[in-house]
Amino acid sequence: MQLKLRIRRHKEGKSWYDSFSVPYEEGMTFLSALQKIKETQDETLTFRHFCRAGICGTCAIYINGFPKLACKEQVLPYLLDGEEITIEPLKNLRVIKDLVVDHEVIPKKMKELSLWISENKENINIDPEVSKYIESSADCILCGACHSYCPQILEEDYAGPLFFAKLYRFSVDPREGKKQLRKLQALSGRLYHCLSCNKCNNVCPKEVEPATLIRKLMLMDVDSA
Ligand code: SF4
Ligand code: SF4
Ligand code: FES
Repeated sequence: MQLKLRIRRHKEGKSWYDSFSVPYEEGMTFLSALQKIKETQDETLTFRHFCRAGICGTCAIYINGFPKLACKEQVLPYLLDGEEITIEPLKNLRVIKDLVVDHEVIPKKMKELSLWISENKENINIDPEVSKYIESSADCILCGACHSYCPQILEEDYAGPLFFAKLYRFSVDPREGKKQLRKLQALSGRLYHCLSCNKCNNVCPKEVEPATLIRKLMLMDVDSA
């Protein structure tokens, strides 16, 4: 069986698509298919990866219009369709080369919002329900999939799903000392401009459920008003 890929290329301000055909190997992921192309057909093909285990978040790409982790996504179900599969870089982030995008906006924004516990209180009992959501938000691997798929992200000042998920975490974490600041950050990030479309929930590979956490942030804001 041959896997047919149509890959968006980008170099020095020019973009185009190249088609490749790769022999299927059992258990093949999109990352291993890209590596096979690089090794055997086009060594200039550029993509990012590190852990190969769904942990580092660096390999996120678009596969047939949906953001996925290349190292986790198996090619077999796509292969059975028999159609050429379109591979593109994440949207809403600047493309550096081929499938590599500039992730720098993410740590930069995290720094701007001081997304770390601002007061380290120890020996605090955390309610299991609260703990569940703290852990869920902490599972975020900063892959950018939700950011790239959110229709609101192009609105200036809209913080976006992954930052709202983090702000929710700090809003409920009893160890956090600046909860009022987190609320203000969420509001200035245009919390209420979220369309509640759930697209971020649907594409998150770690089940962080940013849209659910955004609705919880809204409820907390209403309850405290
Ligand atoms: S639910 Fe809100 S944050 Fe999530 S994708 Fe839709 S608009 Fe973006
Ligand atoms: S919330 Fe999910 S989709 Fe968004 S960056 Fe984190 S892990 Fe990726
Ligand atoms: S290579 Fe680390 S998540 Fe895919």
